[in-house]
Amino acid sequence: MRKPVIAGNWKMYKTIAETVDFIEKIKPVAAKAEHCEVVVAPPFTALAAAALAAKGSNVGVSAQDIHWDKEGAHTGDIAPAMLVDAGCTHVIIGHSERRHDHGETDEQVNRKLKAALAAGLAPIVCVGEILADRESGRTGEVLKTQFEGGLAGLTPSEFSRIIIAYEPVWAIGTGRTATPEMAADTHRLLRDLARQKFGEKEASAVRILYGGSVKPDNVGGLMAQEEIDGALVGGASLKVDSFTALINYPRK
Ligand code: PGA
Repeated sequence: MRKPVIAGNWKMYKTIAETVDFIEKIKPVAAKAEHCEVVVAPPFTALAAAALAAKGSNVGVSAQDIHWDKEGAHTGDIAPAMLVDAGCTHVIIGHSERRHDHGETDEQVNRKLKAALAAGLAPIVCVGEILADRESGRTGEVLKTQFEGGLAGLTPSEFSRIIIAYEPVWAIGTGRTATPEMAADTHRLLRDLARQKFGEKEASAVRILYGGSVKPDNVGGLMAQEEIDGALVGGASLKVDSFTALINYPRK
């Protein structure tokens, strides 16, 4: 059984005070939500306060990026041990906004992923195609390249510690979501890649989240798909009411 994950990616939103207030409000919701794991990803400046507020609860705290080096002359970057020191449990790696705004490559994603695993963090690795790829029928090829490059050199036991997020770039922040069937098809494709590379047991256990304009009114349809193991949510994770509705997505 794959336990679903509902993760909020706050991107460049929320002050420290807003973060703490949100977590205090979401803790009782997460405490009752035995059907899923709850994770929030505040900006770097609010991580330590978030972890303190979340302490002893079942709200996981994720960073939105990581550097692969232990320390060094990397202005603006954050080392794995610093995230652990701040109290992080998870880290998002290879989000499309990092890939597009900062030119992040699959090779860098791979280095970040290995560093996160070595530090004991749970990585949420993002993959996804742009609209032109989808329209020209190249989705499978693009995802294969991202998967093989990003996850290169991982052992099956390392692979078993990661969470994958499939986020079609054309659906992020656009209000345009993949249909549940379309998302499920792509999740199947990713699970096949995992099977070929890491084996049956690991492939059937890995959680694959969907991301891209997930909202309270479409989460039920997405989560009804056997292949979809949770959601990585941007916009709709910023308000307590809407994140609460996402955590308590309709279940049979
Ligand atoms: P969105 O963002 O839910 O606002 O589309 C998702 C994401 O970028 O992780």
